[in-house]
Amino acid sequence: MRSSTCCTRVSTPGSVVRNRAVVRDTDAGTASALAEGTPLLDVRDLTVTFHSRRGSVRAVDGVSFTVERGEILGVVGESGSGKSVSMMSILKLIRDPNAEISGQALFNGQDLTRLSDRQLRSIRGRQISMVFQDPMTALTPVYTVGWHIAEQLREHQDLSRAQARRRTIELLKEVGIPAAERRVDDFPHQFSGGMRQRVVIAMALANDPSLLIADEPTTALDVTTQAQVLDLMLRLRADYGSSIIIITHDMGVISQGTDRVLVMYGGRVVETGTREEVFRRPDHPYTWGLLGSVPRVSGARVSRLAAIPGAPISASEVPVGCAFAPRCAHRFDACAQRPPLEARDGQHESACWLPFDERDVRRPVRSVKVEEPT
Ligand SMILES: Nc1ncnc2c1ncn2[C@@H]1O[C@H](COP(=O)(O)OP(=O)(O)OP(=O)(O)O)[C@@H](O)[C@H]1O
Ligand code: SF4
Ligand SMILES: [Mg+2]
Repeated sequence: MRSSTCCTRVSTPGSVVRNRAVVRDTDAGTASALAEGTPLLDVRDLTVTFHSRRGSVRAVDGVSFTVERGEILGVVGESGSGKSVSMMSILKLIRDPNAEISGQALFNGQDLTRLSDRQLRSIRGRQISMVFQDPMTALTPVYTVGWHIAEQLREHQDLSRAQARRRTIELLKEVGIPAAERRVDDFPHQFSGGMRQRVVIAMALANDPSLLIADEPTTALDVTTQAQVLDLMLRLRADYGSSIIIITHDMGVISQGTDRVLVMYGGRVVETGTREEVFRRPDHPYTWGLLGSVPRVSGARVSRLAAIPGAPISASEVPVGCAFAPRCAHRFDACAQRPPLEARDGQHESACWLPFDERDVRRPVRSVKVEEPT
């Protein structure tokens, strides 16, 4: 399936197309060798602890989730909740020598945490790409934007310079850079913030990854550009069948284009389910607060935002029991113990000691419109 979409999408026939098809066929072979129904990514009990002389900080605490093939997973949570550290640890991108990582991250059945740096390098950028929070960290000022993309291509595919340049220009067009033939030779500082973010996304797409991890891909962008970047991600899934993890603070982003949602708080998963389940019947008091802070416009009136009381929690002060307890208006004695993730029905799970029928009574009445992905 992936090979055929490749060839309808690449407009210039020739060896670049054939080369891309070879990459896809190899991936397809790997995938078909796996049992039906195996998730593309299966993260189990991921824990990341940073040790220092001042003590240990558990930034990620027993996080488990899956990403199915062709699925878009939205990871949401406030600053410091462990979103970036989780994803970077899966790809062994945490460079702190005092970080201790445990758990499994099975990608196509292969545990990424057990691979050598060399083995991971051949997966990163080709089968899994990551768009980092700050686009400038991925761009070297002294090289042109075209150089960055061509490097990605040539690292994983056997392309001549001319082939890589042709494909680079196509990728720039695909991510909506106008006059790509000319702008390919510009330097990053000659691009606006939104355009730089598109270049970083083009780099991530260069080798048609099976999984794209986009860490706050829209945070630094104006609203119009945000919408365009989200649209680009949806097209990536539609055209390439790629799976995508979008990390964000923004429930608006989540509501516009994800299939499933993972809500994180204090380094833990506190709620997970399909987008519809989480938006229509959120089960965790923290998710109630997140949804209460989504602005809604009705006619000329903008609804008042409900803030979550208290300050965001630091990884060094997560309580032993429920991480949200210090800010939760519903806490009671049981909350001194850590609540497990429990399913209400299907795959909709949340970690809270309140009985489900009690949550149905206490849940703030505020329905949230869920946008259909285009
Ligand atoms: N090298 C490190 N040493 C100690 N603590 C760290 C280190 N790196 C990250 N942390 C801590 O881990 C926690 C999780 O960080 P992370 O970057 O994953 O947060 P985040 O959810 O991505 O936040 P944001 O939305 O602001 O990007 C934070 O409290 C952070 O301070
Ligand atoms: S477990 Fe207790 S403190 Fe935590 S969210 Fe539920 S009610 Fe609130
Ligand atoms: Mg982050």
